[in-house]
Amino acid sequence: MARTVIKGGTVVTATETMEADVLIEGEKVVALAAPDAHDWTADEVIDATGKYVFPGGVDVHTHMELPFGGTYASDDFESGTRAAAWGGTTTIIDFAVQTIGESMVAGYEEWMAKAEGRCAIDYGFHMIVSDVNEATLKEMDVLMGEGVTSFKLFMAYPGVLYSDDGQIFMAMQKAAENGSTIMMHAENGIVIDVLREQAIARGETDPIYHSITRPPVTEGEATHRAIVYAELAGCPLYVVHMSAKEALEEIKAARDRGSNVFAETCPQYLYLGWDNLREPNFEGAKYVCSTPVRNWEEGHQEALWQGLATDDLQVISTDHCPFCFNDHPRLGTQKKLGLGDFTKIPNGLPGVEERFGLIYHGSVGEGRLSLNRFVEVVATAPAKMFGIFPKKGTIAVGSDADIVVLDPNATRTITVAEHHMDVDYTCYEGKEVQGRIDVVMARGKVLVSDGEYHGYAGYGQYLPRGTCQLLI
Ligand code: URP
Ligand code: ZN
Ligand code: ZN
Repeated sequence: MARTVIKGGTVVTATETMEADVLIEGEKVVALAAPDAHDWTADEVIDATGKYVFPGGVDVHTHMELPFGGTYASDDFESGTRAAAWGGTTTIIDFAVQTIGESMVAGYEEWMAKAEGRCAIDYGFHMIVSDVNEATLKEMDVLMGEGVTSFKLFMAYPGVLYSDDGQIFMAMQKAAENGSTIMMHAENGIVIDVLREQAIARGETDPIYHSITRPPVTEGEATHRAIVYAELAGCPLYVVHMSAKEALEEIKAARDRGSNVFAETCPQYLYLGWDNLREPNFEGAKYVCSTPVRNWEEGHQEALWQGLATDDLQVISTDHCPFCFNDHPRLGTQKKLGLGDFTKIPNGLPGVEERFGLIYHGSVGEGRLSLNRFVEVVATAPAKMFGIFPKKGTIAVGSDADIVVLDPNATRTITVAEHHMDVDYTCYEGKEVQGRIDVVMARGKVLVSDGEYHGYAGYGQYLPRGTCQLLI
């Protein structure tokens, strides 16, 4: 079995920071030791002197090839997972989708067929439930047997992915029974649809109105309601893509009373705001996603960083769901479907390649979170939340050798010219970030080193998952 040593670096996990060498045999970490306390031989030595050795990133919210708003997310599993690897993410959990009127198992099989043989990194699935009924509820048990242990429901997008309160509550009761986790897109879609129609009738058609018609209170109210139903049903609840401080307050209160309530935010909510949505020549459409990026002046970003520091927020994912600004060569018009009507802009933005580096910069580089907390929010907590720890999310004996070597003394400028996502813009063009990813390894194989890619489509394996490992 091939032996690799990562030598001379500072190994950082969610709980430890240590000067240690890492011995890898085949796909696994087999030993950690002080540099002068071993005489390991190896086929390959990776010099990490002066660098951090982190667990590979775990992004638990991606949408490769998602059908949305008359088009599809532009990254497929091949391009999206390759880009993830470039950016230090070695595991994704994507969302399989149940088509209304069809079975969930059919949706799962469809997504499995899209991903199988195409991924550069390991992947699992959550299931989007768009049609809660007797049959679907039974299928939740079937999917648990396939390692799909989390189910996303939508309080937004009436007529498309929306479930009403009764459907949500029934799915939660099933989750309480079978041990799965309910993931919630918590926005009051019924009220939002009224506000959107009224805005369009007034001629308010620009991208900024996407956020104005989804005010923070519609996220806070829906989050409150989801928590009440989850507490009543007795299931774990994970609120996705949180952007409003009003929603965070609801999560905090629930956690303070001991409920199994969790939440994630995403880089766009920590870095972007209304100035972006107001960019001229329709460029604001690049930042249209739901929940929306919010008004900087209202203090949402500070509240989210604070929530991450205090563990009121547990996870940073990306909600990677890219659509091209100009026509995509294969998929045609994407963001510009909404020219003259913001309600027709496909919701979502790119990020899978940028999360690890952006969050290292904002947390460690700018001093908002400790090194260990950085690792926890980008790797360890997401792995525990969705039942794949300690295979994923840490560097420990027996864990998969999913590793990122980062040079903290180098800086890098984010630009579309250098990224690998299949989309024609980045939300962070020209942003200089502290830290450069030099090596990315997944299950013992070097995927990226010193600016060269060594991965291939099909290296990634399906990850059947266990249940939530963060339960109180
Ligand atoms: O705008 C977003 N978030 N698009 C992807 C679908 C979803 O709601 O996560
Ligand atoms: Zn959502
Ligand atoms: Zn999403």
